Amino acid sequence: MKLIKAVRGTKDIFGEESQKYDFIIKTAQDFFSRYGYTSIKTPIFEETELFKRGVGEGTDIVEKEMYSFVDRGDREITLRPEGTAPVVRCYLENKIYTKEEVSRFFYFGSMFRYERPQAGRQREFNQIGVEVLGESSPTLDAEIISMGYNFLKKLGLKDLEVRINSVGDRETRTRYRSRLVDFLMPIKEELCDDCKIRIEKNPLRVLDCKNENCKEKTKDAPVIIDSLSDEERKHYETVKKYLSLFDIDFKEDARLVRGLDYYSSTVYEIVTNKLGAQGTVLGGGRYDNLLKQLGDKDIPAFGFAAGVERIMMLLEEYPKVGTDIYIAWLGEETKDTAFKIANGLRLEGKSVIIEYENRSLKSHMKKADKINVKYVLILGEDELQKGKILLKNFTDRTQEEISVVEIYDRFI
Ligand code: HAM
Repeated sequence: MKLIKAVRGTKDIFGEESQKYDFIIKTAQDFFSRYGYTSIKTPIFEETELFKRGVGEGTDIVEKEMYSFVDRGDREITLRPEGTAPVVRCYLENKIYTKEEVSRFFYFGSMFRYERPQAGRQREFNQIGVEVLGESSPTLDAEIISMGYNFLKKLGLKDLEVRINSVGDRETRTRYRSRLVDFLMPIKEELCDDCKIRIEKNPLRVLDCKNENCKEKTKDAPVIIDSLSDEERKHYETVKKYLSLFDIDFKEDARLVRGLDYYSSTVYEIVTNKLGAQGTVLGGGRYDNLLKQLGDKDIPAFGFAAGVERIMMLLEEYPKVGTDIYIAWLGEETKDTAFKIANGLRLEGKSVIIEYENRSLKSHMKKADKINVKYVLILGEDELQKGKILLKNFTDRTQEEISVVEIYDRFI
């Protein structure tokens, strides 16, 4: 019989990997809540139109990476390729702007993109993201950048680099776009096939082409920073000032444009040199026009998302989930008391492992060793008659006989 395998580009997470996953999510929840973020859960699928309008028709995501289908009710549906557009949809639909001035959301979950799978790149992957809606201050930009960076540092990640840029608003980009196209057109034939198309569709993307020849040929291309308005420049300078105030080292990267259309003003990425081509661990920026585009509202916003699988690849240490107590019962007469003790300890917050079938002492000890337990309680028939139980400390290997009623005093 043919064994059914996970679909190409998807991965199961279990065992040690799931301990890493849980640790990352828990750290994010704890850390982001210090800044006032609360969690938000949006559906895994949305109307396709949301991403076309939100992420942008000319982007790789919308053009060739979406998992789109028509459902049984003839609706055009897409598995979410990212979390920002869904959060904005939820915010507008529920008129959250009428309830609070600034909203701070945190989310995690699966995203779907039909990309070529390789290490650090999957078709179903997990993101942790944050979105702040209703605040235009550049101080917020710097605060979020530093929050994301400090979150990764808290997880113990090393050798991270923060890269920032400003891509200006739509007017700035239109102005810059024509300057860039003027530069690119004369050298069009010398660029890779993808870039030839990009010049027509999305010339800014030529700047982050990975092809060495394209990089060389475009190294003197005009940069967007030079096209910023005075106000945009001031915003960018303030972001840099506050990044320094928050002790964040950063590198200005005039070519950083990001792959989603909704950005305006500040954009940034946190990269590592340890993951080869998939070195971007976290990316985000300001998207002040997205709410206008999706709901005709002038509400500024900023956010980021980090790839959980990429963080997992970089994570060196994480707390191993251990078991507090293993209960070894010997002989059918002891079983009921042993299970009563196990239940009681679990209700008091201890983790307890207990077997369902009678075993020899040797087999119990082997099992307890394997699961890395701290204490073993051994209940034999003789002990039970005396109302006693043997407590074995598995760290220093000492043991003592205690009375059954004493157990709770010892552990709780
Ligand atoms: P993004 O840059 O498309 O931004 O994705 C953010 C992060 O998700 C990437 O830096 C990477 O770590 C991870 N990632 C992306 N694609 C894959 C993949 N195929 N396999 C594994 N990991 C991947 C966004 O999604 C924006 N929504 C971020 C944002 C939030 N901007 C503002 N708010």
